[in-house]
Amino acid sequence: MKVLFTGIQPTGLLHIGNYYGAIRNWVELQHKYKSYISIVDLHAITIAYDPEDMRKNVFDLALGLFACGINLERTILFIQSEVPGHAELTWTFNSITPLGELERMTQFKDKAGQHRKNVNVGLLDYPVLQAADILIYKGEIVPVGEDQVQHVEFTREVARRFNARYGDTFPECQAELTANPRIMGIDGSAKMSKSKGNFIGILESREEIWNKLAPAPTDPARVKRSDPGTPEKCNIYSYHQVVTPEPELTRYIAHGCRTAGIGCLDCKRKLLDNLMQVLDPIRERYHDLSGKKKEIRNILDRNAEACRKVSGQTILEVKEKMGLTPVWKV
Ligand code: TRP
Repeated sequence: MKVLFTGIQPTGLLHIGNYYGAIRNWVELQHKYKSYISIVDLHAITIAYDPEDMRKNVFDLALGLFACGINLERTILFIQSEVPGHAELTWTFNSITPLGELERMTQFKDKAGQHRKNVNVGLLDYPVLQAADILIYKGEIVPVGEDQVQHVEFTREVARRFNARYGDTFPECQAELTANPRIMGIDGSAKMSKSKGNFIGILESREEIWNKLAPAPTDPARVKRSDPGTPEKCNIYSYHQVVTPEPELTRYIAHGCRTAGIGCLDCKRKLLDNLMQVLDPIRERYHDLSGKKKEIRNILDRNAEACRKVSGQTILEVKEKMGLTPVWKV
């Protein structure tokens, strides 16, 4: 089985953009690949944060991922900072990475622009740590959103460079994009994100979600109930396309929009019903797991231990190839 690796930042509660854009895909792929999913706290500390929030967010994210269907038997879900090899491999990769390549990364330029007062070395080195995450398990399949494709390409470059310099060690990984890698925010103007506040949380109640959906913009052409619209111009319709499982229902909604057969509010009500069918069980599982914190902690411990073992092997191999083997071993 090929190795799948992906990481997710502990930035607070999950939203449906995370779920439909990434997590649901991981839940399916875990049956096809040997899967590692890391809560990447070492990446998260490259921007300003509160240590108490971090502690809480890391654990909440683990609960959230399990609640969404990440399976204990099939996926090794672990906390990045609990496996020291990631940072160690980063350092060795630093020594073969040209500075200019990191300075050119799109995400670095974006984040450096957003956090002008905190452009730290970690922010620049972020992609190298990401490459170490993937390569330390010899990962080949990396399911990510569009915005991470450049980092996966960079990882391939690191692997090639290492292999050329020190001998064949790492496979060349590839990004595996989700069918719908870009879920827009409820205002329809930007990608759904925690920081933009335009999200629907996966643990929100029916009422809370309705309060966000009801005033959400639709196709601007539909001013009155009797005005026909274009579903492709409606953000709510774009949600239907990912949330509503039966294509027949989606077609019915598209037709209703074009012919003014269905009003925007009714369309939103249908969306709410379909969405809650998915979110209700996730919320229930989350609350159930919240009562089992000790068990979850034990699982994370066990998984970190398994990762330390596998990554320790790679570190040994890397050190050997780089001439870092202690003399007493020869
Ligand atoms: N940078 C990724 C993001 O922000 C998270 C991440 C860290 C990751 N390490 C990874 C993703 C390794 C895939 C593989 O979404």
